[in-house]
Amino acid sequence: MAATLVGTGRRRARTNGSEVRMGRSSKDKRDIYYRLAKEEGWRARSAFKLLQLDQEFNLFTGVNRAVDLCAAPGSWSQVLSRKLRGQEEKAEKGEEVKIVAVDLQAMAPLPGVTQIQGDITKVSTAQEIIRHFEGQPADLVVCDGAPDVTGLHDVDEYIQAQLLLAALNITTHVLKPGGTFVAKIFRGKDVTLLYSQLKIFFSGVTCAKPRSSRNSSIEAFVVCQNYSPPEGYVPNMSNPLLDHSYDVDFNQLDGPNRVIVPFLACGDLSAFDSDRTYPLQLHADKQYQYTPPAQPPICPPYQQACHLRKNNLLSREDALSVGPSQRPEPPAESN
Ligand SMILES: C[S@@+](CC[C@H](N)C(=O)[O-])C[C@H]1O[C@@H](n2cnc3c(N)ncnc32)[C@H](O)[C@@H]1O
Repeated sequence: MAATLVGTGRRRARTNGSEVRMGRSSKDKRDIYYRLAKEEGWRARSAFKLLQLDQEFNLFTGVNRAVDLCAAPGSWSQVLSRKLRGQEEKAEKGEEVKIVAVDLQAMAPLPGVTQIQGDITKVSTAQEIIRHFEGQPADLVVCDGAPDVTGLHDVDEYIQAQLLLAALNITTHVLKPGGTFVAKIFRGKDVTLLYSQLKIFFSGVTCAKPRSSRNSSIEAFVVCQNYSPPEGYVPNMSNPLLDHSYDVDFNQLDGPNRVIVPFLACGDLSAFDSDRTYPLQLHADKQYQYTPPAQPPICPPYQQACHLRKNNLLSREDALSVGPSQRPEPPAESN
């Protein structure tokens, strides 16, 4: 049984004889995928979402060229790098693997991954990505893009939908016919419209929820297979925007006219449940040991706020002049 000890100003717990610091390990207890990500060397718990989608949809077979949109801190790029570059037979056959990762935020380098720092909704970023695939289209495009959520659900869902449509637009320029597009989607009220837009370009569209994505979140992933744009379709840089009369004209249909998005809960049922709290000691034969994050965030936006709060500078007028070089190390990555 866990016993609480009084240490030098910090609470400590004893678990099966091992002493662990409460602050550092409590998240390991609450979030099993966060903990496993650190233990397996992934930069974020999101890695498991892509791995579980792959288990269901076999995403990486025959894939040599891939784009990772909204990639920071880079766990999906790690998965791509390990899955595509890790296949020895490819190296033997001399097949060239190309992975391009894009994000607004800076990302620590990864072997074999070309990085672009930019906004995927901007034409200039889209053009830079397209340049990398001219002549040789991509086999797979993935997008885990998420806005900084405001808590206003309609706004968050709208921005998320815009990110998805920006990703789709880039995809129409770089993906080969027959290729696959995977993107995060918020299953809000516009989901059937997005689904219908995706169905224009892909013969198979499924909305999937991996076990590592919390049930409490409206996040899911669209897995769009067999890219087959309408005949004569010429990709252009103007985004297909959401139709605001959709709710009246389209979402009110019923019976056979109503579009029902196919939904699949995926990931092995024996996989860990992301909404459950697990004990730190998972296996009787393996002692729990705290693992630090695989890659701490580079200059995150909250860094200055943490520094100001820690040093009691929040109310001081000269506080904003604190430069990045004087700022402390950021806290650990948690997404
Ligand atoms: C959930 S995180 C992605 C995690 C990533 N798949 C991983 O496994 O490490 C969402 C990312 O979307 C990025 N993002 C949001 N809006 C963006 C935009 N307009 N252009 C590029 N990246 C964007 C954010 O900077 C953030 O890094």
